[in-house]
Amino acid sequence: MRQEIEEQKEYIKKVAEENKGKNLKYCILTMGCQLNENDSEKISGMAEQMGYTRTENFEDANLAIINTCCVRENAEERLFGKVGELKNLKEKNNMIISIGGCMMQEKQMVEKIKKSYHYIDIVFGTHTLHKLPEDIYEVLNGRKRIQDIIDIDGKVFEGLPISRANNVQASITIMYGCDNFCSYCIVPYVRGRERSRKPKDIIKEAKQVAQQGYKEIMLLGQNVNSYLRSEMEEIKQGKLKDEDGDYAQINSFAKLLRAINEIDGIERIRFVSPHPKDFTDDVIEAIRDCDKVCKFIHLPLQSGSTRMLKIMNRKYTKEQYLQLVEKMKKEIPGVKFSTDIIVGFAGETEADFEDTLDVVKKVKYEQAFMFIYSRRTGTPGDKMENQIPENIKHERFNRLKTLVESQIAKNNKSYINTIQKVLVEGPSKGDSSMLTGRTEYNKVIVFNGQESMINKIVDVKIVEDHMWYFKGEII
Ligand code: SAH
Ligand code: SF4
Ligand code: F3S
Repeated sequence: MRQEIEEQKEYIKKVAEENKGKNLKYCILTMGCQLNENDSEKISGMAEQMGYTRTENFEDANLAIINTCCVRENAEERLFGKVGELKNLKEKNNMIISIGGCMMQEKQMVEKIKKSYHYIDIVFGTHTLHKLPEDIYEVLNGRKRIQDIIDIDGKVFEGLPISRANNVQASITIMYGCDNFCSYCIVPYVRGRERSRKPKDIIKEAKQVAQQGYKEIMLLGQNVNSYLRSEMEEIKQGKLKDEDGDYAQINSFAKLLRAINEIDGIERIRFVSPHPKDFTDDVIEAIRDCDKVCKFIHLPLQSGSTRMLKIMNRKYTKEQYLQLVEKMKKEIPGVKFSTDIIVGFAGETEADFEDTLDVVKKVKYEQAFMFIYSRRTGTPGDKMENQIPENIKHERFNRLKTLVESQIAKNNKSYINTIQKVLVEGPSKGDSSMLTGRTEYNKVIVFNGQESMINKIVDVKIVEDHMWYFKGEII
């Protein structure tokens, strides 16, 4: 594996040599989740080492990259709309067009591109994104590259360059893939089996970002609290030794949290997404004990109906979910929650939907990401017969949204006149004379302040609440 990365580093050098003095630019569009964004940061890292500088505008780009997502349907329309726009730019800038990400792990999508989109130069998969330098080298030398992307093996690559998009929060992927096969979800098919990075590689990266000045770490994975689960047998049998023997110290997600909590310079630790079924007591205790771990937990619900949860293959009941929330509230002072919810999955009745509303009323989430169920080819959900008509899905979605937003609006009022610790990100997009930052509970605060506060945690008094942000005053 190390050798494969070394090979690609040679290609990076060759491309950089060819690109020298040409003032070339790259533009990348990221369509997916935080893992997809983290992949884009690695792609950007490689592009920059190959001599491309970043532009936010495809019109100025010599290398266009689209990092796709396929978790919901609308992404396809968006992708092909964008690709159509790029076609016109291609001749003008002699642009290389490359498309990667989860959608490119779907065989039928690659076939479609091969057949109908001849002007796309490179197609790469999520498991082979490190080969992009070789692909670009080949295209520069007149050869088109459509990667053989269907293979989803279990390799974990280390040592790719990275160009981080956020200067306050550093994302660190701790595990790849997903083994849960929730019946609505395509991720396990495109991201392959679960595999975790070695603790020592994660700790090394965490120390590095701390040294670079990052204050917040976001640990990423589709199921972070099953970190090292796939490797456990091998670790126990001593087959997965690594030079430093650090599996002896870190062999679970809870222990990883504790280890990162010790790193100087880091002030906040977040993680996404944990799975309720794997939320063991050791993880709860680690969150409680680690002062840097935000007491703000993303706890995906998906549905509040035990019957639907079974059909969804989520492996917990409504009661178990609520008990977990109660346990955490008891153990972790001040804990608050965000969630993901799907409405209108196959077979969902009015009574099932009301169970979802019931859980929302009980937990009172700080934030909820709500989705209308979207059928994905190849998943069990797509084959179920009792699909819900679009109008009912939309009607339920709107009812859920109204409930969530009314709870958030009410809750927001309780922040007025409180003092919040805000990690300052930079000037506010809406008003550059103001600063913006986030609280532990991920609330966006806009306030008056000096540039010297950027990348620091400051106390801000909340004076005005809006749906998605607050106005504050520095005290
Ligand atoms: N692994 C994470 C998130 C995966 S995808 C988890 O289990 O929580 C992010 C969210 O997209 C999911 O939590 C789910 O709410 C939503 N989602 C996944 N598949 C979907 C589909 N087919 N239709 C609508 N929403 C979906
Ligand atoms: Fe999809 Fe479920 Fe895996 Fe999350 S846990 S990625 S929802 S299959
Ligand atoms: Fe993420 Fe979308 Fe892939 S949600 S893992 S980018 S399918």
